[in-house]
Amino acid sequence: HKIDWDISDAQKGGFKHFMLKEILEEPDVIVEALRGRIKNGEIEIPELDFDKNYFKNINQVYFVACGTAYHAGLVGKYLVEKYLNIPAQAEVASEFRYRNPVIDERTLVFVVSQSGETADTLAALRLAKEKKAKTIGIVNVVGSSVAREVDKVVYIHAGPEIAVASTKAYVAQVEVITLSILHLAKIIDKLNEANEKLFVEEFQKLEGFAREILENKEEIASFVSTTKNIEETFFIGRNLDYALSLEGALKLKEIAYVHAEGYPAGELKHGPLALITPNSLVIAIDTFTPLSDKTISNIKEVKARGGKVLAIAKKDNTRIKEVADSVFYIPNVLDDLTPIITVIPLQLFAYYMADARGLDIDKPRNLAKSVTVE
Ligand code: G6P
Repeated sequence: HKIDWDISDAQKGGFKHFMLKEILEEPDVIVEALRGRIKNGEIEIPELDFDKNYFKNINQVYFVACGTAYHAGLVGKYLVEKYLNIPAQAEVASEFRYRNPVIDERTLVFVVSQSGETADTLAALRLAKEKKAKTIGIVNVVGSSVAREVDKVVYIHAGPEIAVASTKAYVAQVEVITLSILHLAKIIDKLNEANEKLFVEEFQKLEGFAREILENKEEIASFVSTTKNIEETFFIGRNLDYALSLEGALKLKEIAYVHAEGYPAGELKHGPLALITPNSLVIAIDTFTPLSDKTISNIKEVKARGGKVLAIAKKDNTRIKEVADSVFYIPNVLDDLTPIITVIPLQLFAYYMADARGLDIDKPRNLAKSVTVE
């Protein structure tokens, strides 16, 4: 006889879905990913024990991955440019592997994968190695293929992720990528002491920030109850918020089956604005302070066409409530760390939308947790 459902119910620990359980684990995931990586007030990733000379010749950095892991890599691209001052790109592995990426031993490739077994990601890694690039794996599953084949592996320690749609792994991936970049910046003398101190302090606030967001999760649920029949959404943002908009849209597509597009806020007027009507829902992510004014202008453009806007913004953003229909406030996190916690309301939004529609959240149709064949 079958007892499968019993076991899985037990593992869910009383939660309705693994996805919700995994989202609620994020404050702990944030702590685990940080463990041993801040010592005596300093950022240190012992796995990345490069010396300065090793880095002298690195002239470009790539992030290759699929799905949610690719979106984590996109965050890495912005931070590499900012803190290492080296040209950086993020690319989906299935594209990277079938062109002729111009890379050599001066290229550093980050390979990001929760499972460490995604076929395209693994092929991209092998191609990078064939071309003599240096490789760093950002991996969850210990001993997986990616973990074994990269030059250096940094585990994200997120624990097993069961729901097909990745949530807590993204949080840990972005956190570990950020820490790794700051660690590399130190090696090449590009992170001054004051900045390091600031980061150390701000990293330690993240767990509390994540808890605070989760305590307010009903706000997202009640917003969803007013929009659950929506057929199309745009997620917009700039810079790191753009990377988040892609992840927010992916989550909604994956589990709620709502057509969603992540778009750079500044590109709205080059196409999507034509689609905005009073039936449109736009999720505007406005957590990256330096570009907040620009995003607010884009929200006004949506409002002028009658679109409905839910904004995700920091508490100290005083202007946002004047332009958006609803605002979900997150704590005042340091700009460069926003993706680690801003993703939480986006995940909750997708979760509640899927739940309101009665869908099979942990096993969305046509999708697999680990895509090990092409
Ligand atoms: C599948 C999963 C996604 C995941 C992606 C990459 O599409 O459904 O949740 O982000 O694969 O998986 P990986 O294990 O390489 O991170």
